[in-house]
Amino acid sequence: MHDRKSSRIAACTFGALCVLCAALLFGWGCGKKESGPTERTIAKSEPSAHKPHLNSDLIQGRKVFEQKHCSQCHSIFERERKIGPKLQSSRFYGSFLDVFSTLWNHAPAMAVYMRKEVLDRPQFSTAELNQLVSFLYMLPYLGESGNPRKGEALLEGKACFRCHSLARKGKKNGVPLDALAVYQSQVVLLQRMWNHGPEMISQMVTAGTAIPTFSGNDMTDIFAALTESAPEKSRKVFLGVGNVENGLKVFTDKGCNQCHAIFGTGGKDAPDLGISVSQANITTLITRLWNHAGQMREKFQQKKLQWPHFTETEMNDLMVFLYSLNYEDKPGDPAKGEQVFAQKKCVDCHFKTDVGKQKIVRDIKTADALLFATQMWNHIPAMEAAMVTQAVPWPEMTGQQLRDVLAFLHSQ
Ligand code: HEC
Ligand code: HEC
Ligand code: HEC
Ligand code: HEC
Repeated sequence: MHDRKSSRIAACTFGALCVLCAALLFGWGCGKKESGPTERTIAKSEPSAHKPHLNSDLIQGRKVFEQKHCSQCHSIFERERKIGPKLQSSRFYGSFLDVFSTLWNHAPAMAVYMRKEVLDRPQFSTAELNQLVSFLYMLPYLGESGNPRKGEALLEGKACFRCHSLARKGKKNGVPLDALAVYQSQVVLLQRMWNHGPEMISQMVTAGTAIPTFSGNDMTDIFAALTESAPEKSRKVFLGVGNVENGLKVFTDKGCNQCHAIFGTGGKDAPDLGISVSQANITTLITRLWNHAGQMREKFQQKKLQWPHFTETEMNDLMVFLYSLNYEDKPGDPAKGEQVFAQKKCVDCHFKTDVGKQKIVRDIKTADALLFATQMWNHIPAMEAAMVTQAVPWPEMTGQQLRDVLAFLHSQ
């Protein structure tokens, strides 16, 4: 049974997409290999109900997406055309409140369609909203699918085949790359290259080949070439997306913070990774890291630090941790928020009476962005009713405006 599933997946050449489809459809597969990730270490995170907190588990996200009927109007990976736009895209919506603002702004249009389809407007618990926004935040991370033809050309063009072999191609008796094919994640390519980085780089220096750098979708293409060469029936190991908490731990355990800061906290010898890598898809992230391996290695030597090795799912977790850094919103500006609150006519309903003012201030004063967004969303029916009678247009909000209004209500 498992074999049949595996070969169906093998027939599919889309890297990230396949990983996800397979993961969603069949659950994580697993396999045992000494130095590779095993099921044991593929952790699942619990959704946090307290504040915006990226839950990278796409299976849980997909569940909410379906439960709340989003999937009735939106496809994600399927080709099927539905009423709403397809949501798998390369577009980064931004932080939690940025993503939420796209939902907020299309609430009226959504309502029109939902009435037609006789669906109830969904209500969210904080955990559900966090999970749903996490899911939308995660979609662009998966990046584009790899192209095995291009990948093979790269193995040749980047001189990898001078030292390596793949199936019957490349250097005779070269270091074989075939073993990587079972892992259904391009992050494994980076992890292995990274672990062997110092030896490989010194061999390159000796051999007079330049340290190869990559751009665009190169690394995903190379990975597609590796997986494609895997024997039809070989077992697959699905890594899925990493786990953010584990990634934070890896970041400190491996000493990344000795040189790198994250939003100002940490080392000052290297780019601040909160600012410089922020939202970029998985391919871009692994490419950035590899392209700097040469310079990083010199810095490691200067500081007499050991080159960190990665095992199991560590690199996978680290990458999604880097990606998660822009999920949480930065504080807004209360003065601007006061203006927005007036311009969008929030004052007309909410500050009309002292009692009304006290209520919203009391409800939101200590609320974080998640509770604020959940409350706003769940009050849409009440707001809409009031808006229709008062003929107020729907108050569209950008993520920044939401941040500012929240800061304003906090300051009251
Ligand atoms: C009944 C149909 C329908 C349902 C249900 C629905 N949407 Fe939409 N959605 C749309 C339409 C139509 C648009 C196009 C934009 C507009 O008209 O506002 C849209 C736009 C969007 C966008 C903006 C896309 C972009 O790139 O601009 C996002 C994000 C989105 N929907 C997410 C969701 C989520 C999450 C849910 C579930 C809570 C959901 N939608 C439920 C119909 C729907
Ligand atoms: C000058 C020779 C040389 C070149 C060129 C070279 N490598 Fe390597 N590579 C090695 C050696 C040697 C090892 C094994 C190092 C060790 O045993 O620690 C290695 C290891 C690896 C591994 C780890 C394999 C495993 O099973 O864990 C990967 C992946 C890899 N290389 C990818 C590449 C790619 C992709 C390219 C081209 C962009 C490339 N290498 C170019 C010499 C080279
Ligand atoms: C000894 C110091 C040092 C340590 C430790 C270190 N780095 Fe770096 N890193 C650097 C330097 C220096 C650069 C910039 C190289 C350059 O400018 O080309 C860099 C660049 C990067 C970049 C690319 C940034 C960009 O803007 O494109 C990433 C990503 C990165 N490091 C991640 C990591 C991770 C993850 C770790 C932990 C495993 C780590 N670094 C550990 C020194 C370090
Ligand atoms: C047409 C009137 C109207 C407008 C305009 C309006 N709201 Fe509301 N809002 C309501 C009603 C009614 C409720 C539900 C209040 C309740 O249940 O006590 C509500 C609830 C809320 C809540 C939930 C907190 C609570 O105390 O219930 C938040 C937050 C909120 N609105 C923010 C805003 C913001 C921000 C704006 C401006 C963009 C805005 N509202 C504009 C009528 C309005």
